[in-house]
Amino acid sequence: MSALAPGSFAPSDDRFGEFPHSLDARVFVVADERVLRLHPPVARAVKRVPHVALTAGENAKSLRTVERLAVAALDVPRDATIIALGGGTIGDVTTVFAHLHKRGARLVHVPSTWLAAIDSSVGGKGAVNVKGRKNALGVFHAPAETWVCPQLFTTLTPAQRLEGEAEAYKMALTLDATVWRTWRLARPDDTSLVRTSRALKNAICVADPYERTGRRAVLNFGHTFGHVIESLTRYRVRHGVAVALGMVCALDLSRALGATNSLDVDRHLPLADSARSRVRAVFAGTTVAQVKALLAGDKKGASATHTRFVLFNEPGRTELRDVPHEAWKPLWRAWASGVAP
Ligand SMILES: NC(=O)c1ccc[n+]([C@@H]2O[C@H](COP(=O)([O-])OP(=O)(O)OC[C@H]3O[C@@H](n4cnc5c(N)ncnc54)[C@H](O)[C@@H]3O)[C@@H](O)[C@H]2O)c1
Repeated sequence: MSALAPGSFAPSDDRFGEFPHSLDARVFVVADERVLRLHPPVARAVKRVPHVALTAGENAKSLRTVERLAVAALDVPRDATIIALGGGTIGDVTTVFAHLHKRGARLVHVPSTWLAAIDSSVGGKGAVNVKGRKNALGVFHAPAETWVCPQLFTTLTPAQRLEGEAEAYKMALTLDATVWRTWRLARPDDTSLVRTSRALKNAICVADPYERTGRRAVLNFGHTFGHVIESLTRYRVRHGVAVALGMVCALDLSRALGATNSLDVDRHLPLADSARSRVRAVFAGTTVAQVKALLAGDKKGASATHTRFVLFNEPGRTELRDVPHEAWKPLWRAWASGVAP
């Protein structure tokens, strides 16, 4: 047995295949009730072992849910394996619970959304929201294994797929020029999209497992404006779409600040055809002052006067730069008119 505490960082041991027909008795499953409803064979296996079914969504990411899980798992031994079966919200709250269960239990992720498979189940972060503040309390607790079960993805809608796809393309563009060049020519099949993006994120997390060196910050590419877009639209624009649009804004800013002279990468990102009109739809009804205030409040912000941006240099290469809050202002007219600056 390893001397390391459960949840200590190690690259995820990924297993691709079907969800097991029967589970070991020493598990405790936290499952998205919708996934159980949509996948009867999975539900049959889960219902034979200790489990809790939750309604997914931001409301599930709460201390109240952690307490509910703790009560249900009072008699679950500390050497049991906690299984998180669901999307990012189930994964996040279960990660917090696994970190606390008897001072830390072994965790297995079974991501059921594209976003969870590509992004949130890699890297060991878990969090709950407090009084509407997203991810206000969080932990690092890495999964011992991740079971990627493609059967679960058959019930996702195109919009749900886009949630993860934007993150996958972000990783290819910012982390690996070879992968980017391949994906630019033709969209990879589902399995290689998931495998490759998990490998890319894993490599970054190995280099900066506890977000101490700044290396992981590259994963925020497109997220600064993405968060602005989510806030301005009160989350009517979903995270995946917001990130896709945020990347277009970040690329414009990178060009305006001389960080890159690349002109064509935007064309190969998800939503490329509609990105400019979607950016216009968000920004046309708002003001420069609103955007400025949101950037100033960005929790990854550099200072009272500067915002920390991940700027794009070329495929596979980015830089972190503290940029005056108003550096994007010359781009505003173009964004609000739906054209490239
Ligand atoms: N820990 C991290 O590193 C990290 C990274 C990125 C995002 N996140 C978090 O992830 C969360 C978003 O994750 P999400 O988009 O997966 O949300 P989610 O868990 O709310 O799932 C979205 C919807 O998909 C449904 N669903 C799940 N699996 C399904 C399936 N197989 N078929 C059909 N429907 C299914 C859910 O019931 C839910 O309605 C956010 O809270 C975000 O903060 C965490």
